[in-house]
Amino acid sequence: MVFLTNHSLTPYHTFGLDVRTAFFVEIKSTEELRHALAQSTPPILLLGGGSNMLLTRDWPGTVIHMMEKGREISSENEEEAIIAAGAGENWHELVLWTLDQHLGGLENLSLIPGSVGAAPIQNIGAYGVELTDVFDHLEAMDLETGVIRVFDHDSCHFGYRDSVFKNEYKGKYAITRVFLRLKKNPVVNTGYGAIRDLLSQEGITTPTIRDVSRAVIGIRRSKLPDPAVLGNAGSFFKNPEVSAGELQRLLEAFPHLIHYPLPDGGAKIPAGWLIEQCGWKGKRVGNTGCHAQQSLVLVNYGGATGQEIWAHAQRVAQSVKETFGVELMAEVNVL
Ligand code: EPU
Repeated sequence: MVFLTNHSLTPYHTFGLDVRTAFFVEIKSTEELRHALAQSTPPILLLGGGSNMLLTRDWPGTVIHMMEKGREISSENEEEAIIAAGAGENWHELVLWTLDQHLGGLENLSLIPGSVGAAPIQNIGAYGVELTDVFDHLEAMDLETGVIRVFDHDSCHFGYRDSVFKNEYKGKYAITRVFLRLKKNPVVNTGYGAIRDLLSQEGITTPTIRDVSRAVIGIRRSKLPDPAVLGNAGSFFKNPEVSAGELQRLLEAFPHLIHYPLPDGGAKIPAGWLIEQCGWKGKRVGNTGCHAQQSLVLVNYGGATGQEIWAHAQRVAQSVKETFGVELMAEVNVL
């Protein structure tokens, strides 16, 4: 375990910004993490795949790169298997491995950038499935004491792109291992229109988990920019939820409003649609802008700074607020 000084963070996060950290250390085991924590200069930033963060400044303390690997079937019965994965495993590689094991549950979450350890923090989700649907429990280290604590499903308080690790326990724990409950005879989820359309175009009537994974990969590639080509952190904002009263006001003013009804009479509104209506889709401002295929994704066209991207995000949110009276909240972690 080596502490590097004045280290570039450009390769370690998906916006690809030119930022540095005063100290940088890579850990490959829980034991190394414990040692690294004891020796680190604060403030400490735990970094997985760096796929959900916007760094607006150089990091003044220590970045700990979580690289604990390992994946295995931890227990199983006739119907299910619990798999265990180290926080430093790449998420998509884990998904592919579960397909090889003929275990269903993660196929809709194919190709999401990032690491396994970050997945529960924001309860990653796509195409009708969220991590909460397959989550069993996780192990996390208390950053102050170095003690490992087990969090079961209930104690994670999962919500839409949310968990206890973004709220009450923000900055208090390092997730080290994640355990997921997968199915041996899965019922695939093809409820999301684009998946259904793609599979039926191919004449597939009884899709396997591999078919669904392939469809999801195809849809993602057609809409979302590859961070290796164009820096980005996926959806920059959450899709806002509005109350029943607010929905009525919006529908009167904007009869074509796209919305997904919620049980309380309110609705979730796709932020990408709101942003597009305000004229930002595909528009470049300096070195940043809203992606041409998905305006909810802010991109770095090359040479952008974190502050430039953040200023653009605020500009976009302000114009959505002025046009629709709806507040957009960042989904990415702005540091
Ligand atoms: N839309 C537009 N213009 C745009 C973008 C979207 O009109 O520029 C409309 C689409 O036509 C569609 C609706 O908005 O009617 C929803 O779009 P999409 O299906 O692309 O999904 P999203 O709501 O924009 C969410 C997640 C994505 C996830 C997709 C698919 C959030 C914040 N984002 O996006 O997750 O992949 O659904 O399930 O909930 C991420 O979290 O980083 C992410 C990419």
